[in-house]
Amino acid sequence: MEDINKAKQRIEELRKALNYHNYRYYVLDSPEISDAAFDELMQELKRLETEYPELITSDSPTQRIGAPPVEAFGVVEHREPLLSLANAFSYEELAAWHKRASNLLAGRGFDLVCEPKIDGLAVALTYVDGLFVTGATRGDGYRGENITQNLRTVRSIPLSVPKEAPPRFEVRGEVYLPKAGFKRLNEERAKEGLPLFANPRNAAAGSVRQLDSSITARRPLDIFIYGLGWVVGKAVPDTHWEIMQWLKSLGFKINPNIALYHTIEEAEECHQNWVESRESFPYEADGMVVKVNPIALQQELGNVAHEPRWAIAYKFPAIQGTTRLANIGINVGRTGRLNPYAILEPVHIGGVIISHAALHNEEDIHRKDIRIGDWVTVQRAGEVIPEIVGPIVSRRTGEERKFSMREKTWEIYRERKGIAGEEEPPDHPICPVCGAEVIKPEDEAMHRCTNAACPSQALEQIKHFVSRGAMDIDGVGEKLCQALFEAGLVKDASDLYYLTREQLLGLEKMADKSVSNVLNSIEGSKNRPLARVIFALGILHVGEEYAELLAENFSSIDELAKASQEDLLSLPSIGPKIADSIVTFFRQEGNKRIIEKLRKAEVRLEEERAEEVKSEELPLDGLEFVLTGKLESFPRSEAEAKVKALGGKASSDVTKETSYVVVGADPGSKLAKAQKLGVKTLNEVEFLELLNQNTSLF
Ligand code: IVH
Repeated sequence: MEDINKAKQRIEELRKALNYHNYRYYVLDSPEISDAAFDELMQELKRLETEYPELITSDSPTQRIGAPPVEAFGVVEHREPLLSLANAFSYEELAAWHKRASNLLAGRGFDLVCEPKIDGLAVALTYVDGLFVTGATRGDGYRGENITQNLRTVRSIPLSVPKEAPPRFEVRGEVYLPKAGFKRLNEERAKEGLPLFANPRNAAAGSVRQLDSSITARRPLDIFIYGLGWVVGKAVPDTHWEIMQWLKSLGFKINPNIALYHTIEEAEECHQNWVESRESFPYEADGMVVKVNPIALQQELGNVAHEPRWAIAYKFPAIQGTTRLANIGINVGRTGRLNPYAILEPVHIGGVIISHAALHNEEDIHRKDIRIGDWVTVQRAGEVIPEIVGPIVSRRTGEERKFSMREKTWEIYRERKGIAGEEEPPDHPICPVCGAEVIKPEDEAMHRCTNAACPSQALEQIKHFVSRGAMDIDGVGEKLCQALFEAGLVKDASDLYYLTREQLLGLEKMADKSVSNVLNSIEGSKNRPLARVIFALGILHVGEEYAELLAENFSSIDELAKASQEDLLSLPSIGPKIADSIVTFFRQEGNKRIIEKLRKAEVRLEEERAEEVKSEELPLDGLEFVLTGKLESFPRSEAEAKVKALGGKASSDVTKETSYVVVGADPGSKLAKAQKLGVKTLNEVEFLELLNQNTSLF
């Protein structure tokens, strides 16, 4: 008893400290302690919670890691509908909106609140008795998806709120991916050969709607709360502005750019300022939301259809420009994908010089009818690679040329190889780098080079191997990879581990000191965690997230190499495409050779202490539960999922091995069996307490 009380006290201290530092870091962007110090506190809390699983609560900072995948999201009925906004595209439209509202309010004046309109995903967060209990998407406005588990992983969403908060209330906000996070995510996806997200909005939506919340947990999602949904049991401030300040005091993240004005002219000025400064916002905003400040007047104005009369989205103009499409080039990526790109006559768009733009694939080029030599409209949106909106057909001279993958790949290849003459191109597209045949799988839009030894792929693969998320070999950057590759010293990544001092000294610009650094970095990379090694191998479709998942389930590269298609398919979120790709990878002789060379060089190809780490993390590890009868709080399947999420086992037969039988209403014969075998029983309340000390609210 003594010990558990002590543990309880320490756990509370740790949670308080972790929540505070979390808030400083994710909400205020102003950390007070180092990441290492934070991790230390977190480890201590995890250790205590493992020892005393009965003390785990749903708002513990340890509960942000993500839960096992769900089959599909449940449905949440919104108590009050989530509306959308009408748009204004000009000052005239904004002023007309303001005039209409003023008229309806019979000349009673009102202030206006201006906020950036974040381009993300609308969510509604419900808090009951101080705890975050439900998070839902907007859905059709009336019914959304239950994405609570995923939202728990968003660090700027408080899992609990102070006592002063109302007993029950809902806040609304926009979940988004900051520009930097979006850029990083797409860079990683490019390395993995996965399709890129077109913009931060899609990326945020894709991340939030993951069935496996541990994937969401790895995405750097953030939130801005922009309003109150409904409140029960407490009076709240009577203007939007004050409500936002009050929500801020409860720990919610509010956009720091929020501004209060008296007149519509001031709102216009604010809009103009933001149009100019939006590039510097760390998030993507596509407009400014203008809201009537007094809540009583908002209510009086009400809604038309799904749009409130008391707010409007005053859109920012798209950042566009026009220029000539000088040519189309083709890159070959690490996974053999042929990526066409636009070579533009350089043009200033929104303060940045643009000379290249994405052209996703051949079909897309034809769909938009983009021709080489065309004048085109180019659009930039924040960190997204500039895109061609379409050709300006009226400016065509007749000199423009239609794009053909077959002709273009041949042209690039011929130039590269110095092949002269009028030779006809082959009757199919080829790899512009190695000349091998390319394929276009039916379900894919991209052409792919089939030659595993294609130099472009090999070099890209070496660059990938040394990169930061992979083996992280400091000092071996893209240039050095290229030099080593061209000198024939490194033909595949494993050759890096056989480089000698003399070989490196023989390269241009490599002095004694930098050679030592490079050799040290290479040596130091031999002990990377298994997940990184798997990622570094560059298996098609296996990015960092899947690499982690694989490392959690296979203890070594050899184990993984032995895995069958079925073994792989039994893992959450691995589908046939990825399973296929993994099996094919380990079947190829070239890849087997690389792995053997890595092994000979003493690169660690297995995980250390994989078992220990796993059980330490999960508080119900080793406990077996049987559920019988009807539970009030949630369906039995959900209760079983919760047990599993905490590392416990849920089974259907009561045996001597059973740790607990959870008894709901109208229990079946399992209760009798438990009593006969002397297995401990828990009623629903005790069970909830075990899952979470504060679960009386479920
Ligand atoms: S207020 C009744 N404020 O824009 C309207 N919405 O088209 C409530 N959005 O679904 C919305 N930033 O997801 C509001 N500062 C902001 C916003 C914002 C982004 C989104 C929101 C809504 C959509 C409306």
